[in-house]
Amino acid sequence: MDKSNKARRLRFEIFRYNPEDPGSAPHTDIFEIEETEFMTLYIALNQIREQHDTGLQFDFACRSAICGSCGMMVNGRPALACRTLTSDLPEEIRLYPLPAFKLVGDLSVDTGTWFREMAERTEAWIHERLAFDPDAVEQRMSDDIAAAIYEGDRCIECGCCVASCGAANLDEEFLAGAGLNRVARFMMDPRDARSDADWYEVVAGDKGVFGCIGMMACADVCPKELPLLDVYAYLRRKALGARFVKKDAG
Ligand code: SF4
Ligand code: SF4
Ligand code: FES
Repeated sequence: MDKSNKARRLRFEIFRYNPEDPGSAPHTDIFEIEETEFMTLYIALNQIREQHDTGLQFDFACRSAICGSCGMMVNGRPALACRTLTSDLPEEIRLYPLPAFKLVGDLSVDTGTWFREMAERTEAWIHERLAFDPDAVEQRMSDDIAAAIYEGDRCIECGCCVASCGAANLDEEFLAGAGLNRVARFMMDPRDARSDADWYEVVAGDKGVFGCIGMMACADVCPKELPLLDVYAYLRRKALGARFVKKDAG
């Protein structure tokens, strides 16, 4: 709605393509709907699907910026459709699928495969220092470390940072914001047995933090406002420290 309370007519340009259908070719379709108060892209897309094209593909689950499934390119910028208000956009809205991920169809992409492969490459799970003992006393962790770990765990794996990242678009194994954030979360965790030297091969090099161009598009688009700049600074310090340890050891 504009300031005069006159409903706007929104014009959507939406990417269409079904890679499973040999008869389908990439193109865009135009849809027009009337804007309503507090309309999000989630509401708009459902209205388009209900009223204009029941075959339109897009993903949503939580509708509240938690599940990470509704990332898409909104006027050239990765964003969560469920928390994007149409009132924050011009009348012409271009919706495209996130790049860097396998296209499922139209606006739907497969982020799960990218995140699973990243987790497998980085072994993104706790490598326990101590064997599990059900009778052991609970181990304590400092508040600062716990807060830093939980901060990293706020990532909802929406893929917006990956889509915005030039390095990730050129190299599917580049860790990008989400991957580097995940690695840092386990490096900080005192329960994890891996040393900085063990992490060196994961973090350093052109797949890791030294392949990062540093223009911080990832931080600009992260809907959870994760402190990715701090994460990369932490990883660079750790990687450089580990390199000197390795040199001294050699
Ligand atoms: S700062 Fe690094 S990780 Fe973030 S978008 Fe740029 S190249 Fe990618
Ligand atoms: S770091 Fe931010 S943008 Fe990237 S996947 Fe996690 S929540 Fe999404
Ligand atoms: S629908 Fe879950 S993050 Fe948008």
